[in-house]
Formats: sequence, structure tokens, C-alpha cells
Amino acid sequence: MPTLDFKGKQFVHSHHLSVPFRELRVEAKKSLPAKGAKPSLDDNLIIHGDNLEALKALLPTHAGKVDCIFIDPPYNTGNEGWCYNDNVRSPLMKEWIKKAANPVDKEDLERHDKWLCMMWPRLHLLRELLAEDGVIFLTIDDNEQHRLRALLDEIFGEDCFIASAVWQKRTSPESRKRLGPAHDTVHVYYKRTNAVKLSKLDHSEEQTDAFSNPDGDPNGSWTSTDISAQNPDPSKRKDQQYKIKLPNGTIISPPPGRCWSMLEPEFERLRKEGRIWFGVKGDARPRIKTYFDESSGVSSWTWWPNDELGHNQEAKKEIMEILGSENAFDYPKPVRLLARILGLATSTESLILDSFAGSGTTAHAVLAANAKDGGNRRFILVQCDEYNKAANEMVDLCQTLTAERVRRVIQGHSHPIGRAE
Ligand SMILES: C[S@@+](CC[C@H](N)C(=O)[O-])C[C@H]1O[C@@H](n2cnc3c(N)ncnc32)[C@H](O)[C@@H]1O
Repeated sequence: MPTLDFKGKQFVHSHHLSVPFRELRVEAKKSLPAKGAKPSLDDNLIIHGDNLEALKALLPTHAGKVDCIFIDPPYNTGNEGWCYNDNVRSPLMKEWIKKAANPVDKEDLERHDKWLCMMWPRLHLLRELLAEDGVIFLTIDDNEQHRLRALLDEIFGEDCFIASAVWQKRTSPESRKRLGPAHDTVHVYYKRTNAVKLSKLDHSEEQTDAFSNPDGDPNGSWTSTDISAQNPDPSKRKDQQYKIKLPNGTIISPPPGRCWSMLEPEFERLRKEGRIWFGVKGDARPRIKTYFDESSGVSSWTWWPNDELGHNQEAKKEIMEILGSENAFDYPKPVRLLARILGLATSTESLILDSFAGSGTTAHAVLAANAKDGGNRRFILVQCDEYNKAANEMVDLCQTLTAERVRRVIQGHSHPIGRAE
């Protein structure tokens, strides 16, 4: 398999193994345990610190136990202020850390190498934390999405690639650009081929509205699908080209180039059971009913439009409504995007990890999912101090933003998720 080469790769190759273990300590004063309970490392966790150390610290207790990982790392746009400061034993790395180009900016000609060196050990640790049937989702844009895909193929295995979804993050084109980006990519990998099955999604309100019961069917409301299927060569599937007598007496054959999707005995059985719909007047081409109660949900695909999953502006508004405008954060994700990921890859008892937590959207979505279905999902978030360019200083984002948002959501901040206006 072709692999991606980058400056520093030989030095970070096994770096995840040499990162020293540090102990996780509970800060009781900052915790919000359930009534009567003591704060513990088995609760939801928000870890303040660099995720390289935090992920390593989680290994003894959580290796192989995380069901779903979502990460939204710095996209390496050159404007985010992320720093490469891993303590890798190599003169090259020490030089990188010393240079003025740390935080990594646009003028830094080694910024892609630094980003890849930063991601490599973290992805290794994330993979170790993932359960055998776990799934990882990673958001990224065109600055690094192709390099990230190559890295993931190498670390997770190209057989473990599930899909790259396209999340429509904007609502209109950027006027300064002639072909501006509308989307982020969401790479999805599992840990073991075939060990995992993604879930079907719950019906949206619109999809639920598509079910009705115009014939008073005792099995309840239903939708229907055409029972004809493609068959360009009429000499094939002869036994699926039988004639059907409609309730109004008309006799029909399959339309040209098509056949019926089932054999005649199966069709007659379904007709007897009242599962075939011929239209209100009994004169329409037959359709097969799917009852709401039997339908196990909807399949997802890789097109994730913003009317379903929210967009950048919605995400910013969600934070501002909870924390006020002074706490605006530059690159949040909307709760609805995370809700899609949780819908695909978690059940009510799942453990979810986000090691680039930012404003804590993942925790918000986990709490909202539990509120909706009575689940017991738990989350682990990691957030380090962040460089603030305007103030030229490091700020404790974990306390002021990540944890504060989560505290307010737990305390019942009634935030209307998915209000897109
Ligand atoms: C793009 S933001 C994530 C936004 C988040 N998904 C949300 O909805 O708010 C990436 C975050 O990762 C944090 N980060 C970057 N490097 C990190 C590291 N080594 N350890 C922990 N957090 C880090 C940044 O400070 C930033 O807050």
C-alpha cells in the first residue's frame, strides 16, 4: 500500500509508546456528581490538558472500551493558533518547538509536516482506546483531508475505511471566492472490518409525516414503493413478467424495460394480506406497503446537508445562547451534526470520546440524546489551554468554555437544538 511520507515521521513513528503515563486526578470542586454520589473517573469526564498525555492516561482504564470517537482537530488553516509542542526526542522537533513559527501559521513551510507529526501519535492512541466494534469520525477540510485520509489508511487500515461524508457547513457561497468551499469532510473508520454495524437513523418529522393510512389499514400507517424493477432485457426474468388484474378489472403487464420485483406467488400472498396498494380508485400500478411499526428507521448516506444537520452559524448561535456573546468560539460544530454521528454509532449505553473538545458540542449532543431516549451514554472530553492571538497569551478554554457549557446544559439550560434561522 502506498504510504505518506513527511518530515519527522521517523521520529514520531513510535512516539505514542514513549509518552509517559500521567495520573488523572478528579477535581471535586469542579465536578457535578449526581445527588448523593462522589465524583469519580467513571463519570462523564472533561480532561484539562494536552490530549496526547490525556489519551495515554486513559489507556489503563479505557483501552478497548470507547464505542464512538469524534474528533474535530485544528484544520491547519494557518490561522487557528494551534502549536506543535510534543516532547519528541529529536533535534528536528526541538528546533520546531523553539522557532517563532510556533503557533503554526500560513508562512510556515513545514506546517503540513508538523500537523501530521501532531496527529500521528494521537491517532494511534485513539485506535487503542476504541472498542473492537467501535467507530471513529473525524471532521476536516481541504487543507488536510487528503493527507488525513492517507494517515488513517496507514494507522487504521484501508479495509477499515467506511466512508467520507460531506457535511454542508455553509448556507451560501463566500462572495470573495469564485469557487469557495461549502463543506467539511467527515472521514469514518472502524477498528475491525465487519465487527461493527452502523445503525439506521430514526425517522425525521418529515419522514414520519410521509406515513399515512388512506385505506384504514388495521396495521396502521404506511408508505409505499413501486413493485416494478429494472429489466432491460425482456428475455430475462420471464417469471417476473406475469399479468396483474387491478381491482377495477384492468389487466396490466410491467412497463417496458421493467419486470415485477417479486414472483407471482409472493405477489398474491401480499395482495391477500392487504399489503398491496392500487390507488384510491383501484386503477393504479401496484405498490407495496411498508408499515411505520415495521420500519426499522432510515439508512444514511454520505450527503449531510445543513437543513438536516445544521451549519457553522447555527453552531455559533447555539453557544451564544448558552454562554452569551462574549464567549463566542470560532470553530464549533452544531449539535445536530453530532446527533447524526451518535445516531449512527451509539446505543443507549455507549461511551463517547472527543479529544479536541473545543466548546463541548459532543457532550451537549450526548446529554441531548440521553434526554431524548432515556439513555445512559457517557462522554470523555479533552481540551487543552489555547493560544489567544489577540492577547498573545494562553487561555484556559477547558474551564471557561468546554466545562462551562456542559455544566449549563446539565443544569437544564433549555436550548432549542436545531433552530436554524
Ligand atoms: C476545531 S476545535 C473543536 C471544536 C468542537 N468540535 C466544537 O464543536 O466546539 C479544536 C479544539 O481542539 C483543541 N486542541 C488543539 N490541540 C489540542 C491538544 N493537543 N490537546 C487538546 N486539545 C487540543 C483546540 O484548542 C480547539 O479548541
